[in-house]
Amino acid sequence: MTFVVTENCIKCKFTDCVDVCPVDCFHEGPNFLVIDPDECIDCTLCEPECPANAIFAEDEVPEGQEIFIELNAKLSKEWSTITEVTKPLPEADEWNGKAGKLDLLEK
Ligand code: SF4
Ligand code: F3S
Repeated sequence: MTFVVTENCIKCKFTDCVDVCPVDCFHEGPNFLVIDPDECIDCTLCEPECPANAIFAEDEVPEGQEIFIELNAKLSKEWSTITEVTKPLPEADEWNGKAGKLDLLEK
């Protein structure tokens, strides 16, 4: 199994999650982070760290967000690893919880 970053990370990117990952499997895009499913060891540590509640175990991804399982697998091979916490995106608090952010994902 793996953990998966889902829609609510988009345009927030708080990055608290990367601080706790023991195997550095987060990868960074312009406005979203993904987890490499081949590296994730299912330690569960990142899930409670996300202020946007965007991280789920693969088998608990909310209905309608299944596309993110595929997106994490694909984009993690294209984007660079991120291992240190950075500032959230400027309007992270405003975007936290907004629906329909998939269309705003920058690749
Ligand atoms: Fe990293 Fe553990 Fe989260 Fe997987 S579950 S991404 S290994 S912190
Ligand atoms: Fe995204 Fe949450 Fe990490 S918003 S960058 S998954 S802490």
